[in-house]
Amino acid sequence: MPVKQEPNIYEELRERLRSARHVFALTGAGVSAESGVPTFRGGGDTTVWKGMPFDVISSAGMLARDLPAVWEWFDYRRGVLGHCQPNAAHTTLARWQDSFPRFTLVTQNVDGLHAAAGSRDVLELHGNAWRARCLGCGWREDVRHLDADERPPVCRACGEAMRPDVVLFGEMLPAGVFEEAAMRASECDLCFVVGTSAIVYPAAALPAEARRAGAYLVEVNPEPTPLSEICDMTIRGLAGEILPRLEF
Ligand code: APR
Repeated sequence: MPVKQEPNIYEELRERLRSARHVFALTGAGVSAESGVPTFRGGGDTTVWKGMPFDVISSAGMLARDLPAVWEWFDYRRGVLGHCQPNAAHTTLARWQDSFPRFTLVTQNVDGLHAAAGSRDVLELHGNAWRARCLGCGWREDVRHLDADERPPVCRACGEAMRPDVVLFGEMLPAGVFEEAAMRASECDLCFVVGTSAIVYPAAALPAEARRAGAYLVEVNPEPTPLSEICDMTIRGLAGEILPRLEF
């Protein structure tokens, strides 16, 4: 039985990881797919809810029209997320935070699985489904500390209604988070794009920022994306299987 040659790409990437000064990783829903979190554009049961496409129920318009319905949708999503554990992709990225002179983890995910895996200082571009934010004073609170029967929850600081602390369709990203991510992307020398369809902006602009600064770009995704053509390397496969193979 001939010995199977491990693709050189892994050895080449380990070599790049060993000499990297600043590693930057951008993740999307695909990094949590192996944890049981449905992706948005991969079909499945979170793309339509009560007959509404996710980008309708998860929108600024719905928030203005029917805040309790938006809470019901996020209560449902937390019901799904509550059964999900970080997978090997999350744990590998958590280990990487102490493996380089600099490491930046930026996610589009609101599932909190990176933090659950031990990642610190995650730049959450789209907020976090486990957090609520006051519509009046901006006070933030972990949803698990709020009365689950009170919908919408009432702010303990000012008595106003609270909303999920998630960026909804038609809304701007939280001030400063994207700018911080873009600055760090422009300072990295190795950039991983993991599990994103790369069609939602401004998040999808970050890898091009890293590229412009001369970083080596690696995409990990079973499917091609609009970013594939600007990547130096694309690895077609599952993040939970591929990232652990990059231990160095
Ligand atoms: N490993 C790696 N990639 C995967 C895996 C996996 N196990 N499973 C699926 N993928 C890839 C899919 O091929 C797809 O390209 O992950 C991507 C998921 O794409 P989307 O569902 O579009 O998710 P994402 O790119 O994160 O969406 C961006 O859009 O809906 C909004 O705010 C929401 O943050 C989200 C944003």
